[in-house]
Amino acid sequence: MSIRHEVTTGDAAAEQVFLSFLGNPPDVEPLAQYHWLHEHAPVFTTTSGMVVLTRYDDVDTALRHRSLGRGDESVQHLTDLPPELVDPVMALWKRTMVFANPPLHTRMRRPVAATFTPRHVDELRERVVARIEGLLSTLAEEPGADFVSRFASPLGADVVGDMLGVPQPDRAELARLSPESMKVFDPMTASTDLPAAAHAAIELANYFGDLVDTRRREPGADVVTRLAGALDQGELERIEVVAASANLLNAGSDTLVNLLSNAMYALLTNPDQLAALRTDPGHLSRAVEELARWDPPLNLNPRTALEPCTVAGVDLVPGQIVIGVQGAANRDPSHYTDPDRLDLVRDEGPSLSFGGGVHYCLGAHLGRLVLGEVLRVLATSGTSVELAGTPRRRPGHNLRGYQYLPVVVTR
Ligand code: HEM
Repeated sequence: MSIRHEVTTGDAAAEQVFLSFLGNPPDVEPLAQYHWLHEHAPVFTTTSGMVVLTRYDDVDTALRHRSLGRGDESVQHLTDLPPELVDPVMALWKRTMVFANPPLHTRMRRPVAATFTPRHVDELRERVVARIEGLLSTLAEEPGADFVSRFASPLGADVVGDMLGVPQPDRAELARLSPESMKVFDPMTASTDLPAAAHAAIELANYFGDLVDTRRREPGADVVTRLAGALDQGELERIEVVAASANLLNAGSDTLVNLLSNAMYALLTNPDQLAALRTDPGHLSRAVEELARWDPPLNLNPRTALEPCTVAGVDLVPGQIVIGVQGAANRDPSHYTDPDRLDLVRDEGPSLSFGGGVHYCLGAHLGRLVLGEVLRVLATSGTSVELAGTPRRRPGHNLRGYQYLPVVVTR
């Protein structure tokens, strides 16, 4: 027997609160809504039948649940696009690891998973540190410069570009195409913006089709070469190799830029925490976890019921969508002590910012390494950073980050 969830105020009120958080300007922090939902409706069903979860344990359970997987929740909004745009986008989407279920998911993840182990990722550390040092020194020469466009974006483009084997001259163009193409898979994108996003997704796929051909002729020590090998050995089809390459670029660059920018803003507005890290830099890994918890780059993580099941006390029918609000789960007072306090030595386990279950972020070690090295340099090199103006959030509450974050760096 399943127990219906404890909604005391009614699903309609909960839905109103949820929609107000999604509809608010991006610089309005959703904390008031998270508090309300935790207290009154940690599990509720919207009028369209979507189940929304905000408790840590419920979101964690949903992400790992074997009866939940990926459905077409990320492409339902594409119905108005003309066939010449929707067909190629759907062909890619169907073969993209992040949207696939086992066994296709397992087949797609296997060829690249080995590249993302801590041992492999650690080989990138030296280059990452050199790049961080160089970018910080450039920032120091430009008081008031934008941390996002002058530090986080070039660092993200380089880290992911190196990993994939994207030639240096192509990276700026990919840094433009990648966020544009990701909008096509975001149900919150305005319909008027969808054609441009679909064009960008197709352009990106064409780019990686060409790069795969190049790497077959001129192999390197990179992920696209590895994927090209999987193609040659018949493990993956061509469209799967192209989709995987574009997916890795998209999943990596934007999230990394947002992780770094969100973390930097958190440090700038909690100077006591950065000062404490400088006094005792021995807790860097805890600081990384805490900053990832504080403001996750991906907030809404959806799953679809693949068969009848019960999650968080709600009986689900096949096709029903469950949304885990990762940002809210990371602030759940039943899981974290004083969750709205940034505490860089907090030791309450990993947050849900890298998701969970079979889709657990492939780049989690890499993301942690890059943020950890930024913190190490800030904590140990005598570099100071201050806010130099009013930051601007990027639109939306699903992919969370900054568009503009002016800083003064002194070294
Ligand atoms: C550093 C480069 C990164 C790469 C290459 C990368 C790559 C990926 C890939 C390929 C997936 C899909 C995995 C699958 O479906 O099996 C994924 C999922 C995900 N990534 Fe990352 N990622 C990176 C950084 C980040 C960062 C910085 C964050 C946020 C802190 C993040 C958060 C997530 C989340 C929330 C998911 C979905 C997990 C789920 O559905 O449960 N990623 N990532």
